[in-house]
Amino acid sequence: MKKLCLGIESTAHTFSIGIIDFEGNVYSLINDIYVPEEGGLHPGLVRDQHLNNFMKIVNRALTEAKISIKDINLIAFSQSPGLGPVLKIGAWVARMLSQLVNIEIVGVNHCIAHIEIGRLKCNIKDPLSLYVSGGNTIVSAFESGRYQIFGETLDLAIGNMIDSFARDAGLNHPGGPKIEKLALNSNNYIQLPYVVKGMDLSFSGLYTAAKYLLQSEDYGIKYNLNDVAYSLQETAFGMLTEVTERALAHTEKKEVLLTGGVAANKRLQSMIKYISKEHDARFEVVPLKFAGDNGAMIGWTGILRYQAEGRHEINETFIKPKERMDHFTIPWRT
Ligand code: ATP
Ligand code: FE2
Repeated sequence: MKKLCLGIESTAHTFSIGIIDFEGNVYSLINDIYVPEEGGLHPGLVRDQHLNNFMKIVNRALTEAKISIKDINLIAFSQSPGLGPVLKIGAWVARMLSQLVNIEIVGVNHCIAHIEIGRLKCNIKDPLSLYVSGGNTIVSAFESGRYQIFGETLDLAIGNMIDSFARDAGLNHPGGPKIEKLALNSNNYIQLPYVVKGMDLSFSGLYTAAKYLLQSEDYGIKYNLNDVAYSLQETAFGMLTEVTERALAHTEKKEVLLTGGVAANKRLQSMIKYISKEHDARFEVVPLKFAGDNGAMIGWTGILRYQAEGRHEINETFIKPKERMDHFTIPWRT
């Protein structure tokens, strides 16, 4: 039997277990997602749901892979970055399973995992990556031994910004797919704040302006939600595309990877595809199953780290809620 890793994702709303072999074949992937009844994510409530459900999710993943926990050779978990109380659950489950069955353990950075699963599943080597999700907005590429960050948000993450706007418009979580659908009904662009500072982005002014537009009447015109959704997407995605294109011109990478939950958006895909073509770069989107938070990406990144540097000791498995992806050298790529 091939060597197997059990990957545990627990940074935010998703508790996920992925079972993946050392060649990158995924045997099972089970997700349990916390959906707030109203408002945003409350870390304590997310933690409670993960704490109540984790064993069911582990068991379902093992059953679907038709294996027992004793067949697992490595446990990987998301060690950084994320919501502290939620990260702790994943780390705790990882340590418990590791010690119970005597399996080696390795902690991984969640943002790096979004890129590594893209490299694996899209079969690309050295992309410029646009990683867009509820909690992150990062343009990065591998340079000088690290995943260097070329541009990032200075305030809200793109997914969080769209979800917040959707919530203000009375749509429930997650708002991203609903705003995408509404935007298809319009091509009436309303001017909104477009804020790119150097290579970084700021979405808070855009969010506030779009929110007020929903409530305002200028010259007797009440703005229509479809038009605001369309304009919000065009502005935000235009900003992302500008920064990605400049990073592409600078790094001269020949591949572009779109990853994270917001990668599902067809309009964003088409914009990034367009600039990739302009620069003769291959464009890839992570398959949707692996675009949002998932245990398979944690498992795969754990395997890469383990093969390059071995396991972590238990006293190295503390969570690091604020750790950035450019903090690490990447031994499996150097
Ligand atoms: P991270 O911890 O990496 O920040 P996350 O916890 O936000 O990730 P993901 O599953 O990667 O989780 O991303 C969820 C986000 O993706 C939500 O903000 C959701 O609205 C957004 N999203 C999903 N589908 C679409 C879509 N079609 N268009 C725009 N946004 C989308
Ligand atoms: Fe994520």
